[in-house]
Amino acid sequence: MPSSPTSALDVRHAGFQFRCIACGDLTSEANHDFRCRHCRDLLEITYPQWKESNPEVEKLKSTWKSRHLSVSPIDLSGVWRFRELLPPIDESLVVTLREGNTPLYELPHCARIVGMHRLLAKHQGLNPTGSFKDTGMTVAATFARRAGVRWVACASTGNTSASMAAYAARGGMRSLVLVPEGKISWSKLSQALDYGAITCQLRTDFDGCLCLLQELVRRAPVYQLNSINPFRLEGQKTIAFEILEQLSWSPPDHIIVPGGNLGNSSAIGKALLEMRELGLISRTPTLSVIQAEGANALVRTLAEGGNRLVSVQPETRATAIRIGSPASWKKALHVLEATGGACEAVSEIEIAQAKAEIGAEGIGCEPASAVTLAGLKKLIQQNFVKPEETVVLVLTGNSLKDPEYTIDFHRGELFKGANEETAAALNPLRRPPIVLDATIEAVLRILDQAEKSPVEKS
Ligand code: F0G
Repeated sequence: MPSSPTSALDVRHAGFQFRCIACGDLTSEANHDFRCRHCRDLLEITYPQWKESNPEVEKLKSTWKSRHLSVSPIDLSGVWRFRELLPPIDESLVVTLREGNTPLYELPHCARIVGMHRLLAKHQGLNPTGSFKDTGMTVAATFARRAGVRWVACASTGNTSASMAAYAARGGMRSLVLVPEGKISWSKLSQALDYGAITCQLRTDFDGCLCLLQELVRRAPVYQLNSINPFRLEGQKTIAFEILEQLSWSPPDHIIVPGGNLGNSSAIGKALLEMRELGLISRTPTLSVIQAEGANALVRTLAEGGNRLVSVQPETRATAIRIGSPASWKKALHVLEATGGACEAVSEIEIAQAKAEIGAEGIGCEPASAVTLAGLKKLIQQNFVKPEETVVLVLTGNSLKDPEYTIDFHRGELFKGANEETAAALNPLRRPPIVLDATIEAVLRILDQAEKSPVEKS
């Protein structure tokens, strides 16, 4: 099926290079471990010809929009729709599940709670495997396929593995998953199994799994699909392209993302800086990163000057971001600095409260995504975010990704034995399931009680 023509900026013929984020070394080929051949730091993808390309930005914007009307799979992908700003590829190799094109929702109820005029959420949980990982995985799986690899592998807190397993299956590759035993949700584990991955539950945490993967790629012919792989981050840039398109290219004041291994914040930040460089936007939104208090390596790293990573022993029920040594910390620091963003950590109770508030909007998200709303509350208190500003929260995962958490919360089991103050903050948001005899009287009684005591939403 022919896809729509390319537009003013045709970087597909201009190519790309890998650049070391520390020493700046440029190369057209990356090693298996995607680390610099000189200093071993991470690589990023750059497009040297962009500087002289002087793109016709209005034409680009209308090309991207018009692709919604195409019938070609790559035009219908919310990632490949923006292919002029991605590494060039033969279209027949693209592995796509029609990722991206996710909604930008208004959150009027949450806006009222935090005292903002307007609050928006980019819901990445509505991707094919239920998380933002699909936007990066389509690009990285495509380049893995182009490289002719047989095995792809990742370490994961659950979402990367679900996504990788799906895209590997679609691309005709085998997949190997390394996850921390007992520390990922059943939903995510079941996805990897369902999509046919060889799934290893290792007796360690995410950082241990990632360390082992690094060793594995040196010793076996497996292609790594963690966010160390810079193709992943190129795909994840499209989250920012879409946000801007959905706001008619008028930049929001703030974009707030959860921080785990820090690939996503790096990708979104890279996209913002590239859009500014190309003249697609006239000013750069501030990109802020929120972590869980028990996994706050970036917060601590910044507090100690930002010259070296301060690792932590991670602990949080938001298992997606239960990471102590984030691989992309330098990239994230760079985008925080370049966009003037903040970095904050939020408590387990603040996360649970924010998750229930997003749920009560009829939207829902997984716990790791809810750190964005909890973090926003802090940034407002600090006057870093003002009530009249436009804020976009990036909700990274679907509510169905972690039903155990939601059920524990509503049954009052998430913070068992917690103090009265905690209970007072959370009780109005709890809706525990009610077990009843199967009689009409019993149900009518419940309806009556609920009507008499309307529960405040917050
Ligand atoms: N939100 C969710 C739902 C995630 O799954 C992750 C990371 C993050 C936020 C943090 O993003 O790592 O780019 O800073 N999950 C990875 C995984 C680590 O293996 O699924 P990040």
